[in-house]
Amino acid sequence: MIVEFTVNGKTERLEVSPTETLVHILREKLYLTGTKEGCGQGDCGACSVWFNGKIVNSCLIWAGKLQDANIVTIEGLGSLTALHPIQECFIEAGAIQCGYCTPGMIMAVYALLKENPDPDEKEIRTAISGNLCRCTGYNVIIEAVKKAAEYFKEHREVSL
Ligand code: FES
Ligand code: FES
Repeated sequence: MIVEFTVNGKTERLEVSPTETLVHILREKLYLTGTKEGCGQGDCGACSVWFNGKIVNSCLIWAGKLQDANIVTIEGLGSLTALHPIQECFIEAGAIQCGYCTPGMIMAVYALLKENPDPDEKEIRTAISGNLCRCTGYNVIIEAVKKAAEYFKEHREVSL
């Protein structure tokens, strides 16, 4: 089947099999390898992307759902030469170790701060509860999220 959808503002038209997953299409057909595949069954959050304005696990989205979808991946937030402020805050807080969880984690944090610009620790923990990190112990991630929230409070001209 042919599907047409938007990824990071660019229209894509691809031949896909209905049983292919979005994470596979992103990584193997569009070469957007920032999105990671971990468990492949909706448990780890490594594959989190924005799908029609909502955060989803892209390993659970079948190609058959892609027609006219609007998708944002980590590559749509920042680039190697212009990191997104949330990415900068993760680096400053030392919240990245192996980095495998980081793209999905940042997409989840982006979703949180868009909805709730001043989250408390409990709200942060709840927001990232679907994103597993095997390296950091989470405390530095919480610190990074608090830094990012502060950043956006101080730089109101920068919209999420
Ligand atoms: S790879 Fe999608 S939730 Fe783990
Ligand atoms: S930094 Fe390694 S899994 Fe999170």
